[in-house]
Amino acid sequence: MEVPKSLIARLEDAARKAATYSYCPYSKFPVGAAVLADGGEIFSGCNIENASFGLTTCAERTAIFQAVSNGFRRIAAVVLYTPTSRPVSPCGACRQVIQEFGPDARVMSICNGSGRIETTIQSLLPEAFGPHDLDESLHLEDDDGR
Ligand code: THU
Repeated sequence: MEVPKSLIARLEDAARKAATYSYCPYSKFPVGAAVLADGGEIFSGCNIENASFGLTTCAERTAIFQAVSNGFRRIAAVVLYTPTSRPVSPCGACRQVIQEFGPDARVMSICNGSGRIETTIQSLLPEAFGPHDLDESLHLEDDDGR
């Protein structure tokens, strides 16, 4: 789906604002994300770190989980903002979560420089594992009773 320019501007504003709420005392690397749900609603989130480092949640996943928690399971676009000179791409874990709720999602990365990345989750995570792969295992279960 082509995302209207006015909505992209709103997503970018939401991602930049969310980064200001980032809790990143360990990495000192704030990230903000905003997602566009089917229907036009926008949800945002920041990265949230923890003294037990592995419990950190990325901004993209925070934003997507906000959408899902509000009843929106279909994501049309994701904008990722970092206050860096070059745009950064979503991490692997976030790509998998974007794929779950937005297999056709547009993914845009913006920063404080003029560069931006405009791509799709299909380009970022080709041949993705997804819900359809689990259907196959249900069929196997039917066949041999396990
Ligand atoms: N981070 C994100 O929020 N999104 C990404 O896609 C990459 C990494 C966060 C996690 C951690 O708080 C900080 O950036 C440094 O890795």
